[in-house]
Amino acid sequence: MTVETKHVVITGATSGIGEALVKRYSLSHNVIACGRNESKLASFATQGIETLKFDITSKQQVFDAANSIDNVDIVILNAGVCEYIDDANQFDSALFERVIHANLISTGYCLEAFIPKIKKGGQLVVVSSSASFLPLPRAQAYGASKAALSYLTRVMQVELQDIHVTLVNPGFVETPLTDKNDFPMPCLVSCEQASERIYNGVFNRCDEIHFPKRFTLFLKLFSLLPFKLWSPIAKRIKR
Ligand SMILES: NC(=O)c1ccc[n+]([C@@H]2O[C@H](COP(=O)([O-])OP(=O)(O)OC[C@H]3O[C@@H](n4cnc5c(N)ncnc54)[C@H](OP(=O)(O)O)[C@@H]3O)[C@@H](O)[C@H]2O)c1
Repeated sequence: MTVETKHVVITGATSGIGEALVKRYSLSHNVIACGRNESKLASFATQGIETLKFDITSKQQVFDAANSIDNVDIVILNAGVCEYIDDANQFDSALFERVIHANLISTGYCLEAFIPKIKKGGQLVVVSSSASFLPLPRAQAYGASKAALSYLTRVMQVELQDIHVTLVNPGFVETPLTDKNDFPMPCLVSCEQASERIYNGVFNRCDEIHFPKRFTLFLKLFSLLPFKLWSPIAKRIKR
């Protein structure tokens, strides 16, 4: 089957899931790979992949970047950070602000700047997390940012008429972000597996892509049950 060549913007393209998405999309599409890591962006450029260097937490940089490109078919907002609050009794509001800013407020900048760049009938893809399904230990900042991001994306699905919106909720994926985790990560998948799932789901214009199902369906099930059934499991994960 011939695949129509599309123009695809990918944020968080310099590492992990985003980098795997660049590899996957650039097999048959024109990619604009975004991030801050100059050496990674330079290596994309040597492969003929277009790049944009900007910090998503800077509204000015996001707008300058969006204004520098022509209209595109797909925008994948994947950039994100993860930091944990180790002690709830000594709540780290600076960490909380950093994570909410990077994962949520910056998405607002990207939506304002990039939505006008998406062609009619095009697609917006937002990478949230299955951490948004349930309260997880130490995830006050990350989980809250992703729960809000999922809500925001769902509202965009309801509101946008001419652009299809996909919400992506990965389970654990092996990347530099999760390499820092010091706890067991059930059903961990590779970046290549994650990018394949996302690529196929976006191709099929899915409303939600979540994987691996054996993990995300377990979380989804518990999110429907009374909190008192989940709470002891969450407390045991923390120990
Ligand atoms: N790995 C998992 O298990 C998992 C699970 C669920 C959801 N996710 C989500 O998937 C997305 C990608 O995660 P990953 O695991 O692939 O992480 P990663 O390997 O750490 O990559 C994060 C990417 O985000 C970019 N980024 C971070 N802060 C940025 C900023 N201020 N400005 C511009 N770019 C920024 C980084 O680029 P530069 O450093 O070049 O700026 C990098 O390319 C994130 O939204 C994450 O929350 C991951």
